[in-house]
Parts: sequence; structure tokens; C-alpha cells
Amino acid sequence: MTKTSRCPVLTIDGPSGAGKGAVSARVATALGWGVLDSGAVYRSVALAALTNKTDLADETALTALCADLDLGFEPGPDGIQACLGGRRLGDALRAEEVGVASSQVAALPGVRAALLDLQRAFRAVPGLVADGRDMGTVVFPDAEAKVFLDASVEERARRRYRQLKANGDDVTFDRLISDLQARDRRDRERTVSPTLPADDAVVVDSTSLGLEEVVERVLAVVTERVFDRS
Ligand code: DC
Repeated sequence: MTKTSRCPVLTIDGPSGAGKGAVSARVATALGWGVLDSGAVYRSVALAALTNKTDLADETALTALCADLDLGFEPGPDGIQACLGGRRLGDALRAEEVGVASSQVAALPGVRAALLDLQRAFRAVPGLVADGRDMGTVVFPDAEAKVFLDASVEERARRRYRQLKANGDDVTFDRLISDLQARDRRDRERTVSPTLPADDAVVVDSTSLGLEEVVERVLAVVTERVFDRS
């Protein structure tokens, strides 16, 4: 039994590389809830803009593009897959060029406003895990449970380094640290929806925690804030 009659939402916000995606997927599976990967929403806008050759500084054109975005998510072999116009986007969303373009489009207030309804439409029974930067502060300020998942920049860089090396990518650790620091600064200091914990968020520092421990802590927040144990 939940404490309110509304469809419950758990928001998981935090900086790049804190493990939000993996934690969100595990927690959603444990609860049987849906997932909103809002980073994939911004990446899809960026991919559509690059494909259409829309100028990444043209806020009016990009805002119009958001209004027509036919975006959905469906379960795939490696977790949740984003689909644009019914077509699975797969690895295209993860390309470096798309990542850079997504951080440009995400800084535009018109784009962020145009994507609010699309993101809120993911709130559906039995519940939603919303992963991003401003889920608890802007998109779902009334969410029942909010977590801000953090980790030191060195640990985030170490995790990414291992991941990229395993994929055969040629990267250096120092480069990853400086890229993450630059991205943190951009995300935290932008005027619209900066990456900050909501006042009522529980901050979980995953620097010295394994995935299972983080998942347990997040599930404990949901149990306390969402489910009526009486
Ligand atoms: O988490 P990610 O790397 O997939 O996110 C892609 C970009 O979108 C990144 O620059 C941060 C931005 N983003 C955002 O501004 N707000 C969100 N709720 C999610 C992502």
C-alpha cells in the first residue's frame, strides 16, 4: 500500500558517471516500476537536430523539434532502449558527438520547457523511476522519494575508464578527469535546472559503495517515503 493515491515517483539525480543508469534499472526491476532516462531524451533531441542539420544554437527551431519528437522507450537485450519514430536508436545515442550536442541543447530554456510534458507523461502506475539532473527539482518536484547520487570525480573517472577500456577505446585517465570536471561545472553552474540536490533529497555518496549497496540504500528510501508499512 502506498502512502498517497497518486502514482509514486522516485527521482534519481546526480552528476555524470555517478551510476544513475545502472541503479535506476536495478531499482525499477526490483519494484516493477517503469524508468525515464531523461539523459536519453536530451540525447534524442540532439540526434534529431544533428540528423536534420538544425543549428544547435537556434532555440526556436530546436523547441519546435521537441514538440514533434516521437520518443518512446522499450525493453531491449541490454536494458531500456530509446526509440525515435518507432526505430530503436541503440548505440547512436551514446556517440561522443551526440553527448556534446545534448549538453548544448540541454542548456536552452525553451528546449527544457518543451520537454516537460513529454517527461511527465512517463508517470504511470505502478510507479516511475526518473533518472537525470533535474528530476527532483523541476520535472517531478512533488515526487514521493528523491535521491541525489554522488561520487568523487576520481571514482567516476575510474569507473568510466574501466568501461571505455573494456570497449577497446583509447582514453587516458587524466583526460577523463578533466572532461568530467568541465561537464560538472557546466551542469552545476548553468542558470536553468542546474544539477543540484532537491531540498528534500537523500544524498547517497557511492564513492566507496558497490552497486548492490547503493541499490539497497535507494530501496530503503522508497520503503520509507512511499510505502505505508502500518
Ligand atoms: O546523462 P546523460 O549523459 O545521458 O545526459 C546527456 C546530457 O543531457 C548531459 O549533458 C546532461 C543533460 N541532461 C540534462 O540537462 N537534464 C536531464 N534531466 C538529463 C540530462
